Amino acid sequence: MADLGSKTVLILTLGIFLLFLGNVSAQLSTGFYSSSCPNLLSTVKSSVRSAVSSEARMGASILRLFFHDCFVNGCDGSILLDDTSSFTGEKSANPNRNSARGFDVIDNIKTTVENACPGVVSCADILAIAARDSVVFLGGPSWNVKLGRRDSTTASQSQANNDIPGPNSSLSQLSSRFSALGLSNTDLVALSGGHTIGQARCTTFRSRIYSNSSNIESLFARTRQSNCPNTSGSGDNNLAPLDLQTPNSFDNNYFKNLVQNKGLLQSDQVLFNGGSTDSVVRNYANAPARFLSDFAAAMVKMGDIAPLTGSNGQIRKNCRRVN
Ligand code: HEM
Ligand SMILES: *[C@@H]1O[C@H](CO)[C@@H](O)[C@H](O)[C@H]1NC(C)=O
Ligand SMILES: *[C@@H]1O[C@H](CO)[C@@H](O)[C@H](O)[C@H]1NC(C)=O
Ligand SMILES: *[C@@H]1O[C@H](CO)[C@@H](O)[C@H](O)[C@H]1NC(C)=O
Repeated sequence: MADLGSKTVLILTLGIFLLFLGNVSAQLSTGFYSSSCPNLLSTVKSSVRSAVSSEARMGASILRLFFHDCFVNGCDGSILLDDTSSFTGEKSANPNRNSARGFDVIDNIKTTVENACPGVVSCADILAIAARDSVVFLGGPSWNVKLGRRDSTTASQSQANNDIPGPNSSLSQLSSRFSALGLSNTDLVALSGGHTIGQARCTTFRSRIYSNSSNIESLFARTRQSNCPNTSGSGDNNLAPLDLQTPNSFDNNYFKNLVQNKGLLQSDQVLFNGGSTDSVVRNYANAPARFLSDFAAAMVKMGDIAPLTGSNGQIRKNCRRVN
């Protein structure tokens, strides 16, 4: 009996120890690859530097890829999977089709990283680092990227359609989507500041610029109308900067625009339209350093959404397909 008792204690202790280990391996950490791939960060940085210096917008495109990855089943590289005849992924979902870009840059980084450290670094982590470096090269804040994510073996077009908010979203729709992922209204406003860089297609803001609404400044509306005809199907892919002033510079002009009713997307202007987030927008418009530090903190939080860790998922050899 005593023997059985001590065995039970041993098994319980072992069980608790394994639970503890499982818990520890589920945490991401900044030093995850420090011995398995010591040059990872400098390799990613130099690839992002050359991509962004040949086309500044690429920094915006890579930042957006990371957001769209994290909002669909967590930051697991699912957005990077190509469609095949037997597999429908996220690239063809509405928020990505004809607008998600930067996949070649991620492929090039992955090839370089695989040459140095084969089978070690996930595509999900490469995207997380590249998003940070993109922001830095466009003049934004830096942060330490937590690592140790693994890659998904699946993707979901329908979840991409449902989980990534659209440009017509109301504040309450944005707020509930972000809070479902553990992100506060302050995180929502800070992360929306990602629209201080990059471009949007006419089809995403047409209804707003022709709405005659009181929450769009009329001269701004007219300027945007000049390259976005009021006819569905005509000029749909014409681009306009999300930040009309400095679309290649990661600054707080996006918030200064909102305060003047010059947000490009409906989903931008709802953040400053008489609702509960007005004060946060005003704060960021007046205190750029506050925006930059809140943005960095919110990026770390977004990067923590539902990662695959331990023995879940895999380390893809090619970001476009499962092994
Ligand atoms: C709050 C909800 C959000 C909505 C509704 C939204 C919507 C959009 C839309 C409609 C576009 C233009 C896409 C097109 O041309 O078809 C866009 C572009 C972009 N978004 Fe968002 N977005 C949101 C949040 C974010 C977040 C959190 C980030 C990153 C932190 C982000 C980063 C970007 C960037 C950088 C671009 C420009 C991409 C490029 O030029 O290639 N967005 N977004
Ligand atoms: C936004 O809503 C308007 C109707 O108010 C609609 O015509 C338009 O297609 C919608 N745009 C997008 C991108 O969903
Ligand atoms: C834009 O087109 C819609 C219908 O397609 C129409 O109702 C509206 O009056 C037009 N707005 C302007 C400013 O031309
Ligand atoms: C918007 O306002 C302009 C001028 O004030 C007018 O010509 C146009 O018909 C209006 N459009 C709508 C959709 O109300």
